[in-house]
Amino acid sequence: MAHLVSIQYGYSSELRISLTCSSKPLTSSNKPNSRLPTRGPSETRRKIPKLNLEVSPHRAVSAVRLMRIEFGGAFADLLNEKGKGSGENEMGYVERTLGFRTRDLDDKDLRLVTDIVGGTIRWRRYLDYLISSLCHDAKTFSGMEPLLLQILRIGFYEILKLEMPPHAVVHENVGLAKVALRPGAGNMVNGILRKLLLLKESNSLPSPKLEGNDRTQARALAILYSHPVWMVRRWTKHFGQDSAIELMTWNNKHPSFSLRANSAKGFTRADLEFQLKTLKVPHELSPNLSHFVRIKTGLQAVIQAGLLKEGLCSVQDESAGLVVTVLDPHPGEIILDCCAAPGGKTLFIASLMSGQGMLSALDINEGRLRILAETAKLQQVDNVITTIHADLCVYAVDTDMRFDKVLLDAPCSGLGVLSKRADLRWNRRLEDMEELKSLQDRLLDAASILVKPGGLLVYSTCSIDPDENEERVNSFLHRHPEFCIDSVNKYVPAEFVTEKGFYSSSPVKHSLDGAFAARLLRA
Ligand SMILES: C[S@@+](CC[C@H](N)C(=O)[O-])C[C@H]1O[C@@H](n2cnc3c(N)ncnc32)[C@H](O)[C@@H]1O
Repeated sequence: MAHLVSIQYGYSSELRISLTCSSKPLTSSNKPNSRLPTRGPSETRRKIPKLNLEVSPHRAVSAVRLMRIEFGGAFADLLNEKGKGSGENEMGYVERTLGFRTRDLDDKDLRLVTDIVGGTIRWRRYLDYLISSLCHDAKTFSGMEPLLLQILRIGFYEILKLEMPPHAVVHENVGLAKVALRPGAGNMVNGILRKLLLLKESNSLPSPKLEGNDRTQARALAILYSHPVWMVRRWTKHFGQDSAIELMTWNNKHPSFSLRANSAKGFTRADLEFQLKTLKVPHELSPNLSHFVRIKTGLQAVIQAGLLKEGLCSVQDESAGLVVTVLDPHPGEIILDCCAAPGGKTLFIASLMSGQGMLSALDINEGRLRILAETAKLQQVDNVITTIHADLCVYAVDTDMRFDKVLLDAPCSGLGVLSKRADLRWNRRLEDMEELKSLQDRLLDAASILVKPGGLLVYSTCSIDPDENEERVNSFLHRHPEFCIDSVNKYVPAEFVTEKGFYSSSPVKHSLDGAFAARLLRA
């Protein structure tokens, strides 16, 4: 039985900076150390008490988180994952950005912050379209201070999408702009939010017309459904306009989550159900996977009850769980997970191996691999896992090891998981797609070397883009006639099997994240 060991392989600096699934292109506006724009001109600042009990804490914290995401390189999902935001530092950020602290957030505030930050990011393009339409000239919008814009976005989102009592929203956001910036900023927020209320009440909100050629229609849809124009054009081309609209609608909804009970710790799905009932978290059993339970709300309660910290369960989308069933791991097998970190799939694979066999978890990212190793210990599956810190392309030519099964869960655009990763749509560029495709080809070539004769290679992504999925497999099969497609139909329910025998989950069709997997058998 192998124990969790770390092996380190050298890798080229060129590949070290290759795109990873979590990579966020650094632009001048989101460089981690770019300075967060703070308050307005100093001569207009008033002396404010450090602890401000008048400003609503959830709005102050939301505005600051939005600034950190847009200008400080923070990731929306990471800020939320920690439960208490960025913990003790949260008020530090608030104080540095706004010039005062608020009272600490309670659980209700935290839920609101999560909702407002996620929603405001998702709806950014639509909100900005309305805000700019309501400013009295284009310059007012283009020259608007970043903090003022965040406050307006929050107000618009609260009124239009959360349907909060409008007068309270106006009052509170005006108050925030006054103390965080200056009285004039408060007056501006007041004027614009009141205009919005009038237009909303008379049902005459500005709206782009869906007419003209493809490009003009894509621009209108990009505003109405708040996505980048290139994504709208791509999805309209691949799936048709109606499906593109359904997909964007899904991406803008509150994400739902599923939990995987960790059988390796003797914790069954029935145990998980019992815990969820005790915590009063509404849930339903997954019809697709026997270890999984779906929840729409209550993730915070699960985190606070310590179920994740104790390694009893993991947050894992069913679409990712189904990739593991496509691999079909068994006790005693020799398996390689090529792009393993942070380990969602590795840990599930390991639990299905019941402590027998060898699972190598390789990744180029040492920090993420460390998280994998720590979670493996916590979930008591470390007895079958060996971590390997390496570039797959270097490892594949340096080692003599050959595996029964190899999983390549490739770095990808993440276009299938936009409902969960609120900010990802604004960070991906069309140019990324080309870079990703060539990285995926290189990684597939490397992974194929490591499959023993008669063995299995599973290629997977969390993308819905044919170029990253079917096209990559077709191109691989041209280069590697020693491999052939093995249909996934024995491993996943029929509704997930494509004509060509690939696994594909679709947000629109299955109400799950989008994912893809192909089983490729080596002669
Ligand atoms: C889609 S993520 C993997 C997610 C993981 N399978 C899971 O289920 O949690 C892709 C991973 O590929 C890794 N990666 C990117 N380029 C690599 C390379 N050349 N060699 C090895 N790993 C690489 C990234 O560090 C990232 O962790």
